[in-house]
Amino acid sequence: MDTILILDFGGQTCQLIGRRLREGGYYSEIAPHDVRLDAGRLAHVKGIILSGSPYSVYEPDAPNVDPALFDSGLPILGICYGFQLITHLFGGRVEGLRVKEYGKVPLTLKPGNPLFEGVTSGFDSWMSHGDSIAALAPGYQITAMSDNHPAAAWNPEKRIWGIQFHPETSHNQFGNQILWNFATLCGAAREWTLDKVLELERDKIRRRVGNQKVLLLISGGVDSTVAGAMLLNILQPDQVHLMYVDTGLMRKNETVEVSAALRKLGAKHLHLIDAQERFLGALKGLTDPEAKRKAIGDTFIRVQEDEVAGLGLSDYFLAQGTLYTDLIESGKGVGKKAHVIKSHHNVGTPLVEAKRAAGLIIEPLEMLYKDEVRALGEKLGVAESIVWRHPFPGPGLGIRVLGEVTREKCDILREADWIYLDELKKRGLYREIWQAFSVLLPVRSVGVTGDARDYGFVLALRAVVSKDGMSADVYPFPMKDLLEISSLITNQVRAVGRVTYDISSKPPSTIEWE
Ligand code: XMP
Repeated sequence: MDTILILDFGGQTCQLIGRRLREGGYYSEIAPHDVRLDAGRLAHVKGIILSGSPYSVYEPDAPNVDPALFDSGLPILGICYGFQLITHLFGGRVEGLRVKEYGKVPLTLKPGNPLFEGVTSGFDSWMSHGDSIAALAPGYQITAMSDNHPAAAWNPEKRIWGIQFHPETSHNQFGNQILWNFATLCGAAREWTLDKVLELERDKIRRRVGNQKVLLLISGGVDSTVAGAMLLNILQPDQVHLMYVDTGLMRKNETVEVSAALRKLGAKHLHLIDAQERFLGALKGLTDPEAKRKAIGDTFIRVQEDEVAGLGLSDYFLAQGTLYTDLIESGKGVGKKAHVIKSHHNVGTPLVEAKRAAGLIIEPLEMLYKDEVRALGEKLGVAESIVWRHPFPGPGLGIRVLGEVTREKCDILREADWIYLDELKKRGLYREIWQAFSVLLPVRSVGVTGDARDYGFVLALRAVVSKDGMSADVYPFPMKDLLEISSLITNQVRAVGRVTYDISSKPPSTIEWE
């Protein structure tokens, strides 16, 4: 398939470049900035984009490219650092600004440049740079200016474009148009659709799996459920084994909802494992969050081993709901703060490791971004409540009942959390929020019911907006909603005597409490 290759120099919005191109139907891939650009890597590549970066070209360890890039003859678009790097490499001058240019900056276009076809002069670009182009490299001409600086240039002979702004961000007017114009100039066909994804995966998975069986562990989240839907769509229902482990740490109705959704999609072999006793038993007496996480993880491994062995499958494939963003070996390590970014929770179990070593893993979502997974889920008929579900951590309520976890406390939390989330859905707020949940605190607080003093649990409500969970802002609830939800909870869940709202952003707080 025609491909636009994006070289990642560690810019924060690099993944968005790929996402925007795909929205326009152009297939894109992301690779580390210094990937070898040999004939194999460049097969199907129609054009190359160089991303932004936290570096300045003058730093001693500034990231660079394989020089073969400039011999490839392919059209190139440098964004921000990418533009500065090209300028620097070909004899122009890059200078540090006294004040970083950040935010919306209107640009005046020189007429007639095909990169800006359909873009109105004076449009708002989005800037975020500390270096700027002081002199263009020979052969380059200015195509757009801000008040003070060259904002874009091109070398018509070599078909190399440079832009100082970030068309991939949503604040940049005409951003999609500019990226799609580039892809069109590269001669890339608009071939990327969900039907195409299904067709490619159908061919690939059928060829690999043949008549063998595939086992997929379903967590109840969007990724594994859509992966299940895809397998059921591509293979014979008899080949697909789905296993769902009820840890006792799931939310209310979760098990029923997920199994109904999978049955509706044609699941024949749905193995629902009730492992509540095992998990709650393993958590008995534990209060330290990391000890609880470990107990849950270890129990999961043992339950998985026992239950999978009990199915009596041999030589089967194991499917995983891995996304493209989990897999790209991008330039993440280039970012100056790369070392502080957590690589969250992608722990492989021994079963996964063994299957990987045997070459028996299939990953039906490996080409997709999260929002493509959601769109595909809708296309395949996965229930809306699952497709749009907020992220839910692997240890589930085990880390939302603070302190020791008991069945009684899980039941209280389940009930209260259900009221909270149900109200968010009824009020049309659920989809505006990245993640909302309740936390049961290990303290009791005094209250009055009738004439008596009463000691009830304290429940904290959390709701955050975020792009990827790495940082998050508190959702600014209208007070009316909070007051109404609080009184619904205390009226309906007698064990909860007090409700609070968590107003901490990440950082410094994390999204979860434990
Ligand atoms: P934090 O609390 O680190 O959470 O700000 C970021 C995102 O990760 C989820 N999270 C977990 N997911 N196992 C998981 O699978 C865990 O132990 C875990 N802890 C946090 C959290 O829900 C949020 O979406």
